[in-house]
Amino acid sequence: MQEYQRFYQGKTVVISGAASGIGSALAHLFAEFGCKIAICDIDGSALAQVVESIQATLQKNRSHADVSSPIVSQVVDVASKEAWSAFLAKCIDTHEHIDLVINNAGIEGSSQPIWASSDDTLERVMDVNFYGMVFGSKTSLPYLVQRPWAALVNVSSIFGLVAPPNTADYSASKFAIRGYTESLRAELELVHPQVQVHLVHPGGINTNITRLEHSQKFKQRFLTTEPRALALQIAKGVMRNKARIVFGNQAKRTAFASRLLPLSWLSKILSKEIDGLGLEGDYIREHEGFELPNKNDKTDN
Ligand SMILES: NC(=O)c1ccc[n+]([C@@H]2O[C@H](COP(=O)([O-])OP(=O)(O)OC[C@H]3O[C@@H](n4cnc5c(N)ncnc54)[C@H](O)[C@@H]3O)[C@@H](O)[C@H]2O)c1
Repeated sequence: MQEYQRFYQGKTVVISGAASGIGSALAHLFAEFGCKIAICDIDGSALAQVVESIQATLQKNRSHADVSSPIVSQVVDVASKEAWSAFLAKCIDTHEHIDLVINNAGIEGSSQPIWASSDDTLERVMDVNFYGMVFGSKTSLPYLVQRPWAALVNVSSIFGLVAPPNTADYSASKFAIRGYTESLRAELELVHPQVQVHLVHPGGINTNITRLEHSQKFKQRFLTTEPRALALQIAKGVMRNKARIVFGNQAKRTAFASRLLPLSWLSKILSKEIDGLGLEGDYIREHEGFELPNKNDKTDN
């Protein structure tokens, strides 16, 4: 703990989606390390509770952290660039500098096959997961490059490495985060190498991300790692400048398989793993609203 405190003490950490799960765990952890905290979320009341909870924790462990530093918290829809700009301006007003930005906010997809999921869901998933990360990165970079050391952390997923059935919208957003972040990392390497860029690929973490009823079996089976354990791995990975942070239930073996196995094998394995975890019954083939014709049906066009 002391090693982390020495490294992070006094640095300003910005975290999106901090009202729940991984974001909340990160906010607590970095506050305990003595960081200045700025957090945002679309859910204002849950965010206020996180602020209270951090303050209570800091009061208990007075010796470790800067209890006097105010926590900046703001309701932000990360899909809005203007909202990001206003939030970071408030953060600078209070904390004067920004050292570490964690683009963590995200939502689940439809958890349905492509033909059964709506374009609106795909758009919202891309807006929040992908553009939320893009706007968080673009609006914070001008502040980060001014610092002698800084880091940008973008939270993808193991579904940014492999794409099982029923995750097309979510996986597309998480693969996009990976592509964007890998390119940004290479660009900054050339002009601002003091700004570290990190990709996080969590495995199954025990959070509230699966809000849909038909995702609950998936949650029970896979989302088992506690968010604080991941938060600690992120803090460690950033401190050691690890470009890719892979952690959580099933994460390492999925990353390994994604590098080694041919796609034809991967698809078969992933289909088997996910089978039976969606809606009751054989919903991939018989989902209501499934508009693909059977193989032998004739279509008009
Ligand atoms: N839980 C997992 O197993 C897992 C695995 C891989 C990746 N992830 C990723 O981790 C990140 C955190 O997710 P989590 O598991 O802690 O879920 P969570 O639902 O517990 O927390 C996500 C937070 O993001 C907030 N949020 C949603 N939309 C927002 C918006 N438009 N603007 C601002 N905030 C918004 C939510 O209100 C919530 O507080 C996400 O990007 C998720 O995709 C999670």
